[in-house]
Amino acid sequence: EAKWLKDYQPPVFEVMDLKLRFELAPTSTVVTNSLCCQLANGQVLSDMLLDGECLTLVSIRLNDQLLASSDYRVTDTQLIIHQATLAQAVAPYQLDIVTEINPQANTALEGLYLSSGRFCTQCEAEGFRKITYFFDRPDVLTTYQTTVIADKAKYPTLLANGNLVSQTDLPDGRHQAVWVDPHKKPCYLFALVAGEFGCLTDHYTTAEGREVLLEIYTEPRHLAKCRHAMDSLIASMKWDEQRFGLSYDLDRYMIVAVDDFNMGAMENKGLNVFNSKFVLADADSATDIDSEGVEAVIAHEYFHNWTGNRVTCRDWFQLTLKEGLTVFRDQEFTADMLSAPVKRIEDVRRLRSHQFAEDAGPMAHPIQPQSYIEMNNFYTLTVYEKGAEVVRLYQTLLGRDGFRKGMDLYFQRHDGQAVTVDDFRLAMTDANGRNLTQMQAWYQQAGTPKVAVKITYQPEQQAWLLDFEQHNPKAPKADPLLIPIKLAAFDGQGRAWSLATCANDDAALTQVAGEWVYLLTEATQTLRVTGAPADLVWSLLRDFSAPVILDYAMTPADRLHLAKFDTDPFNRWEMVQQLLLADLISQVQQHEAHQLDSQQVRPAEAVVTVLKTLLTEAITDSTRTDVDWAWYGYALSLPDIGYVIEQFEPVPIATLLQVYPAYQRALGVALADLWQQTYHTQTAQLSTDYAYNAQAIGRRLLKNRALQAWLASGDAAAVTAAQAQYQRQAHMTDVSASLQGLMQWHEAESEPLMQDFYQRWADQPLVLDKWFAWQAGYGKVQGLSGVQRLLEHPAFSWTNPNRVRSVLGSFARLNLALFHQTDGAGYQWLADQVLRLDAINPQVAARMVVPLIQWRRYQPQQQAQMRQVLQDLHTKIASKDVFEIVSKALEK
Ligand code: ARG
Ligand code: ZN
Repeated sequence: EAKWLKDYQPPVFEVMDLKLRFELAPTSTVVTNSLCCQLANGQVLSDMLLDGECLTLVSIRLNDQLLASSDYRVTDTQLIIHQATLAQAVAPYQLDIVTEINPQANTALEGLYLSSGRFCTQCEAEGFRKITYFFDRPDVLTTYQTTVIADKAKYPTLLANGNLVSQTDLPDGRHQAVWVDPHKKPCYLFALVAGEFGCLTDHYTTAEGREVLLEIYTEPRHLAKCRHAMDSLIASMKWDEQRFGLSYDLDRYMIVAVDDFNMGAMENKGLNVFNSKFVLADADSATDIDSEGVEAVIAHEYFHNWTGNRVTCRDWFQLTLKEGLTVFRDQEFTADMLSAPVKRIEDVRRLRSHQFAEDAGPMAHPIQPQSYIEMNNFYTLTVYEKGAEVVRLYQTLLGRDGFRKGMDLYFQRHDGQAVTVDDFRLAMTDANGRNLTQMQAWYQQAGTPKVAVKITYQPEQQAWLLDFEQHNPKAPKADPLLIPIKLAAFDGQGRAWSLATCANDDAALTQVAGEWVYLLTEATQTLRVTGAPADLVWSLLRDFSAPVILDYAMTPADRLHLAKFDTDPFNRWEMVQQLLLADLISQVQQHEAHQLDSQQVRPAEAVVTVLKTLLTEAITDSTRTDVDWAWYGYALSLPDIGYVIEQFEPVPIATLLQVYPAYQRALGVALADLWQQTYHTQTAQLSTDYAYNAQAIGRRLLKNRALQAWLASGDAAAVTAAQAQYQRQAHMTDVSASLQGLMQWHEAESEPLMQDFYQRWADQPLVLDKWFAWQAGYGKVQGLSGVQRLLEHPAFSWTNPNRVRSVLGSFARLNLALFHQTDGAGYQWLADQVLRLDAINPQVAARMVVPLIQWRRYQPQQQAQMRQVLQDLHTKIASKDVFEIVSKALEK
């Protein structure tokens, strides 16, 4: 039942037009589908296969003739109109298909469903087939007219894609709206919304002079929280015009926020439907991270209008064509809005702690997968984030201008088409006159490539030899990849040393936009740099110029040197992180080997020194306004525990879970005064008014990182400071940081504040999600029963994905001590909940099971416990969503 890329066949029928009519009612909605189609060019007549699931068929007419049951066949997944039936009709075929659906019973949130009494849709990837019979594949494009009919009092707002043509009252208190979308689109971009909404409006005039009405619809009481989303939308529209020359193409752009949504948001043509988490934000209720999320997702969905909608995917194996490209575009946007180096650091942190893990586990797949059972399982970090890194490679190779030329050609050639990742590569190739055939390999192999580097100096020749060797453990026989290594060298005094003198010797060494790039194309390659001094320190893979693991054993002294002198802020951060990571790894190894206790965790001298230097700088410079404070915040943070876990095979999880917090505590203690001073000096520089800009966000990040570390030290003054910060209720960023810090390090003291928080925010679902998430993620004293109690709380809901994620997701991702508790009860608990959720929402259940599938990476005891739980789940699970993931985990 898997689908394969190699089996792709072009569509047999071409659809010229589609008219949809919805008579909305919660338990019984009638959908009338009038589609006009004919044989596609070069096709011969055969049975017509229309996709459809969970539909009750009422009637079918073909060219106005009612069909008899012998004219067609209905299965669980298809409506098949017999070739003989079609042969008797004259083309084009006019089909009128009436079906009935039950939106209220739709807890899977795919197709047409209700969220807090409001109708909405989610069709990507294959949800349209739960609305009506159709060719549910992205390469069938047509124009849509949508008529929405509903009770006017209950559903005053009626929306669909495109432009509003008419709105009229009907008898029996009903009304109807007719929408027309003139742009041809695949059905996964269809959307319909009906209900009671408040609406924030604004306007945008495009570079071409088109007046666009901008509307954000939300529950009326949340209207005041939409301003940030609107500002983000306007900024995105302007940015896409300036950077890529792309303007909006309809008279209206609508965004609807709903509380129950499986993913982040959906780019339906002219009518985006969003998880309210990525629309609603104000200082009171959203943290800086939340607000950045809103800005990025609003931009992401807007950018899809060109990369996804105007040019779409031929089939779902091409998903990264639109997602990788659109993530890359939203990353570049955020970099321009806030801080480019900080955005890069954030993205690489996420890639390393989550995508690398995915790529090393049983769900590993190329950014262009070869097969799937349930497509929704392939909306992954690999397709999205690694996909974005691969798009970034083109820009690294071609420069911004060359990349822009490629984009221009891509739209010139493919506007209105459904295309493949190869078409994208060819546009980049042809626009730049560069042979990029080798880029193909990035789409075809799973696994994170490793680049091993050995650097030697030959004093007689004054020559540096940089030996590179690339290798992908998941694809050992695969062709070598095109890997651009941005590089630089710094001498003993910290001065940049120019590579210009040796550039002529090696064609693989080129300059792109002022940066030296060494291009790896072979499995092994050596760069020889002559006439160079002996005291150079090499800065490699600057700005993380390719999504690889760089295996280069630097001395701590060299790392310290670059941490100080490197001109690339990413690599300066990287050097501090490598010092920390290397130290953490060696502490874990020592403790594992010698059964030490956690009192004996002592950070290395070099680590303490570098952090001390950074903290001292931050304190001395605290009044400066030209400093990227978030950079300090991230440099002073430990590598994510997920990334540390990846460094081990097998993972000594029990030891790691002892050492990691002990290490945090030890760093807190060793530098307690400096953390405290950093906290105070940054607090002094922050106005009590909330401002959303890189400077203020960065200061809050650093300040709250300092608070965390200070709390970890055990100092009672830190607890008082955190309590005071909570009581000030300045904004959610500070409230959240104080509570998280207290829960992690002083759980008892956090309790009254958590109760206070609940009282204050019980009526705001997105804020209440945090309350659930902190307890599920950090609560330890009550053990598993504390987490279980969250599920029994009256405010918990199995049908709201955000709430489910806030408990199950946070538990398995953050509360590692309970998840991995030695009796295996944490694994069993999660599996029990996945099974329960599977019956309600398989798509979300399939995400929640993921922490269990890494079982092979652990030691024998955990392996056995996790495997047992998975095997048990495998026999009981109903959905193909969870089935696919669990099967892969148990394979071979
Ligand atoms: N295309 C949407 C986005 O990136 C994601 C929707 C995916 N939804 C799903 N159920 N698979 O922006
Ligand atoms: Zn997307």
